[in-house]
Amino acid sequence: MEKGLILGIETSCDETSVAIVERGQNVLAEVTATSMESFADLGGVIPEEAARKQLHVMIPVLEEALRKWGGNKEDVDAIAVTKGPGLLGSLLIGTMTARVLASAWHKPLMGVHHIFGHLSSSWIGASDQPKFPVLTLSVSGGHTEVWLRESHTKGLLLSRTRDDAAGEAFDKGAVLLGLPYPGGAALSALAQSGNGSLYPFNVPLNRDPSKDFSFSGLKTALRYAIRDLGDDAKHHFADLAASYEATIVRHLVDRVDSALDEHHVQELHVVGGVSANGPLQKACKEIATRRNITSRIPSAEYRTDNAAMIAAGAYFLYEEKREKAFETFETVASLPLTEAIN
Ligand code: KG4
Ligand code: ZN
Repeated sequence: MEKGLILGIETSCDETSVAIVERGQNVLAEVTATSMESFADLGGVIPEEAARKQLHVMIPVLEEALRKWGGNKEDVDAIAVTKGPGLLGSLLIGTMTARVLASAWHKPLMGVHHIFGHLSSSWIGASDQPKFPVLTLSVSGGHTEVWLRESHTKGLLLSRTRDDAAGEAFDKGAVLLGLPYPGGAALSALAQSGNGSLYPFNVPLNRDPSKDFSFSGLKTALRYAIRDLGDDAKHHFADLAASYEATIVRHLVDRVDSALDEHHVQELHVVGGVSANGPLQKACKEIATRRNITSRIPSAEYRTDNAAMIAAGAYFLYEEKREKAFETFETVASLPLTEAIN
């Protein structure tokens, strides 16, 4: 890979994103369109509608990214695209575009696991490389895992959720508290004016010997707390939001802390949309300081779904696998988590 320039495309859900990234770290241009606002009143994404929106904006986003970059297509070494997991209709818009572009430009094509993209997002734009081993907490609307990573592309899945993802817990809690979808950030903002100790919730799987996460019971506990308060509930939404958020964060942080008791690492990374959460960021930074390790959280544009993380991941896949990184792939809605790194 002469210049280490990869054009990445990510369309797994409701974001349409194209980026040109140099050597897995230096973003030369990125354009991301989102159709999320159109789902705000609906409590979730409608897959067919998300795919239709992808189709509408895919080419304009690609053209805009190329215009912003202003470089020469001859310098692009490869095209990388999210192959899954995600919404099939949305994924297909990205993978078809990538296939056509690769063929027209005579470039090799790489299919990248969406989660591997998130795992590769925490040092985009940084001036240094992470020091392995790294422990990564990956938290978004669709996934919640703790990974122990020996290198960019090798590692172990230590913990995963049995049911809802952390972001899903935030979003479902937000709906119960009358906030629009996706309500994680709004719930967190509401929590700031509340007292988190007035309605304490049990931390999920607190005494469970497994390393799993679980959030669905917590969501039910919030529903019952609101029901039990009856007409008065609305006056306590801030306190309930504060307790709910504190319990989600406690559950995440407990698992991270016990993984760090068992495994010696150099860095702690938190990636995915929920890594925007203030109390979670604060708790993880405190853990890292206490343990004298480096902590990294991607900057805002690389926390949510974006193409830079796909191009970044692709670069490290190429570094390890060379020509094998360009093997043919299928576009798939479900892909085992363990295929993200192995
Ligand atoms: O990574 P992402 O953009 O999409 C997925 O791939 O799922 O993550 C979106 C999730 C949503 O559930 C959203 O509510 C949550 O991240 N989120 C937050 C915050 N900002 C976004 N959750 C808690 N606190 C926040 N500040
Ligand atoms: Zn994602």
